[in-house]
Amino acid sequence: MQQKVKKAVFPVAGQGTRFLPATKAVPKEILTLVDRPLIQYAIDEARAAGIEEFIFVTSRGKGALEDYFDHAPELEAALKAKGKTALLDALRETYMDSGAIACVRQHQALGLGHAVWCARHLIGDEPFAVLLPDDVIAADKPCLQQMVEAYAETGGNMVAAMEVPADKVSSYGVLDVPTGISPVLPVRAMVEKPAPGTEPSNLAVIGRYILSPQVLRHLDGQEKGAGGEIQLTDAIAREIARANNVHGFRFEGVRYDCGSKAGFLQATLAFGLARDDLRGELEEFLYDMLAMRQAAQ
Ligand code: G1P
Repeated sequence: MQQKVKKAVFPVAGQGTRFLPATKAVPKEILTLVDRPLIQYAIDEARAAGIEEFIFVTSRGKGALEDYFDHAPELEAALKAKGKTALLDALRETYMDSGAIACVRQHQALGLGHAVWCARHLIGDEPFAVLLPDDVIAADKPCLQQMVEAYAETGGNMVAAMEVPADKVSSYGVLDVPTGISPVLPVRAMVEKPAPGTEPSNLAVIGRYILSPQVLRHLDGQEKGAGGEIQLTDAIAREIARANNVHGFRFEGVRYDCGSKAGFLQATLAFGLARDDLRGELEEFLYDMLAMRQAAQ
């Protein structure tokens, strides 16, 4: 029996410069995908996977993000008085139990590995999940839940993985794995943002991890990797070299890169089209717009 994964780290310290000027005033994780902020999707996915403790690694200017999960008694009373029960339910979905959220600061933007390492005292000596909120995954069974179930069999460490087009591979952490169609693959090595032409495969790491505390020890040395940053991928690679206990997990679902504008727009359309209350109007608009564009060509 594996130790249950109860803690999750959400690295949310990034400045979100790709979304300037919006992110001048609003943390990127609060940007809205249909009607919920990006961070809510990651939190809900973690909750579905049985996570009980949520650790945010934040930075200056992320106050709105911490406030977002607070209870809102005035708003609640106003909605109750007006009998707006659906909105009241939506509001309550954002509430977290007292003490369930903890925030630690990353004082300098030194990389994803460093961000996760900042949470080491809160993680202690147990397995933990890491969710990168930029990676939004639409799936019947939430991605982290799929991983927790697979991890119950494998133990060790697990990273979500997906095949990406050849011209995009060098933007990711990339896995060296034996060929095969199995969802769970032993990882022989992994490399962060390989130079084009040197990638070991086109199987890329997507932002969901289940890690052993040993990976944090590999970060103690603060060694810099790709882009001069302290990389989580490098720490996991060291764990492969030490104990050969890392698995890639090909999840079922569609991943959207909400760290890019195009990906955010695609996610907005896909999540909008999946909603009963929006599909009709949105479809009609899209058909009309495409028809107009075609006619103009
Ligand atoms: C991070 C990780 C990378 C992973 C990617 C997934 O990169 O370092 O290994 O493949 O997330 O989204 P970033 O997108 O922060 O450059």
